[in-house]
Amino acid sequence: MTSAFEELAARYDAWYDTASGRVLYDLELGCLRPLLSGTGAPRLEVGVGSGRFAAALGVDVGLDPGRAALRLAAKRGVRVVQGAGERLPFSDNAFGAVGLVVTLCFAEDPEGLLGEVRRVLGPGGTLVVGLVPGDSAWGRWYEEKGRAGHPFYQSAHFLTLSDHLRLLGHAGFEPVASRSTLIQAPTDAPIDEAVQEGIVPGAGFVALVASAGGGRQRGNVKPRRECPAMPRPQETEQIDAQMSQVRRGRLRTREPPHAPPPRPASVQSRSVPQPRGVTATSAS
Ligand SMILES: C[S@@+](CC[C@H](N)C(=O)[O-])C[C@H]1O[C@@H](n2cnc3c(N)ncnc32)[C@H](O)[C@@H]1O
Repeated sequence: MTSAFEELAARYDAWYDTASGRVLYDLELGCLRPLLSGTGAPRLEVGVGSGRFAAALGVDVGLDPGRAALRLAAKRGVRVVQGAGERLPFSDNAFGAVGLVVTLCFAEDPEGLLGEVRRVLGPGGTLVVGLVPGDSAWGRWYEEKGRAGHPFYQSAHFLTLSDHLRLLGHAGFEPVASRSTLIQAPTDAPIDEAVQEGIVPGAGFVALVASAGGGRQRGNVKPRRECPAMPRPQETEQIDAQMSQVRRGRLRTREPPHAPPPRPASVQSRSVPQPRGVTATSAS
């Protein structure tokens, strides 16, 4: 089944340019940015969508099931890979940091997804999660919109904060810091709010940073061992160059007015893990 994020990618992305969308984006970014700063590289966002957060947070690789969203993320300079978080096409220990921004609530198997994130994060790697707690007024408000047929929220299942903490612990993550916002009652109007340190009870948006401990995950979360090994650095550079040429070619053919923006120097100079069996053209 095609998801609303695929069919309505442009509409989802355009919401960020509305008056209330801009305010919420700035607040959520204000929660996430300090938690991600100083984390290891390369960085992956699972459920990257149209790449608004990834582009602002210096994310190198964005993965999402939706091609239309990935095209938008690619235009924002994010290297994109189509796929599902429950089956990440990357080797063990491939990333220094992973972001999940309002993605777990849309995943079919949040526990499996977190197990995969744990697998691709190296020891000491960092996970940053942005979430809408299901037990907050905002979570209940979005759930209600979903029940009323909202195209995006009807497929969401907003987990409670304690659900998140339990799933993180199961997957081998230890939360180390947090920030909160959206304390006031939910509304579609632009709001006047601030970001606060820590978990504020009832907050409608919470960002958590969690470190991947040395051990493997607990519970029934199984690491996927069958992922092929990553190429060596030299091979990676060659594949990288070939893949970006192919991708630029595809984008030029289909969307002449929008050449992808130049990648920031910090990203160009990094060696970014390349997926095997997934081509860089998958988003076009
Ligand atoms: C609410 S959007 C968030 C997008 C982006 N992180 C942002 O904040 O703008 C949720 C995203 O999760 C993606 N998604 C849903 N299920 C997923 C899964 N199993 N694995 C990875 N991404 C998934 C959707 O396609 C969608 O782009």
